[in-house]
Amino acid sequence: MNATASQPGHGFAPGLLDGRVAVITGAAGAIGAATAEIMAALGAQVVAADIDAGRLAALADRITSAGAPGPVTVVADLCDARGIGELAAAVSSQHSHVDILINGLGEHLASAAPFERGTDDIWQRLYEVNLLHVFRACREFVPMMKRRRWGRIVNFSSVEGIRAAPNLAVYTAFKRAVDGFTKSLAVELAPEGIVVTAVAVDKTRAFQVNHYDLPEEYARLAPVWVPAGRYGEAADVARLVVFLASPMNTWVVGDTVIADGGTLSAGGWFRTPARWTNQPLLVQYFEDPAANAGRPPAVQ
Ligand SMILES: NC(=O)c1ccc[n+]([C@@H]2O[C@H](COP(=O)([O-])OP(=O)(O)OC[C@H]3O[C@@H](n4cnc5c(N)ncnc54)[C@H](O)[C@@H]3O)[C@@H](O)[C@H]2O)c1
Repeated sequence: MNATASQPGHGFAPGLLDGRVAVITGAAGAIGAATAEIMAALGAQVVAADIDAGRLAALADRITSAGAPGPVTVVADLCDARGIGELAAAVSSQHSHVDILINGLGEHLASAAPFERGTDDIWQRLYEVNLLHVFRACREFVPMMKRRRWGRIVNFSSVEGIRAAPNLAVYTAFKRAVDGFTKSLAVELAPEGIVVTAVAVDKTRAFQVNHYDLPEEYARLAPVWVPAGRYGEAADVARLVVFLASPMNTWVVGDTVIADGGTLSAGGWFRTPARWTNQPLLVQYFEDPAANAGRPPAVQ
């Protein structure tokens, strides 16, 4: 899947990112890796950080096999201040500056549950994995961008932070916070030549959604849910991220760009007797059909 990202089909001009140092968190994830592969193919010197050592090594292999210089890889828990410190140390040991920061790390942590059952512990972990590391990474690398009066930062929000996700209220709150942070930081940093944006993703094949690997009888229903007619591939989002992070983006400042194949425009979440779903025809796959026989109660 990721291989498609580094093939000539990405459409960008060769050398677009020559000499740029690009730090990518969550780089072993689907979208992070696809972004790293395109950026390396375009001449960037990639620093790829993730907690998953095996997938990070596989990414480095793919980049070098495609003929680009190998990335600096950093295996670290980036939810932890020490992890961001290790990333900063690795960057400083190899490079004198940073031009691009992609804050790709983010996860729902399979935390779906009625709101009142949430614990302080899961809320804290959702905060750390979706928002806190974004603050820390920006604080670490913005000064380097300021010194050269050029920089690009791309954060990751979610369509669920804009629309809603029942049973995931705290996750959506932190994703929406990314949008707010992006706007304010962008206005603060634009006079310094640093462009900050965010991407709000939905329905894109990735590790945390098991790549939407469904039986054919359900996979063929994807066009019912996704106006673009299929689930997104990581490269679909990565191409947008590369544009936003490149010198081509001079005028999208502070906004969150939606990359969802049209799902936000098309619709939302639906009630069933037993669960909420944004893919209603999947309910039979997830549940005993008997559970779907009744009707959810109406608001009185
Ligand atoms: N795929 C989608 O449809 C979708 C929807 C909404 C938002 N997003 C956002 O897109 C971004 C990219 O995610 P993806 O879809 O490629 O998911 P992914 O699951 O493929 O990648 C997430 C990566 O984060 C890494 N990671 C997790 N915890 C870590 C930690 N503590 N330290 C370092 N690395 C850690 C994982 O190892 C993984 O490689 C995320 O911010 C995600 O929230 C994606």
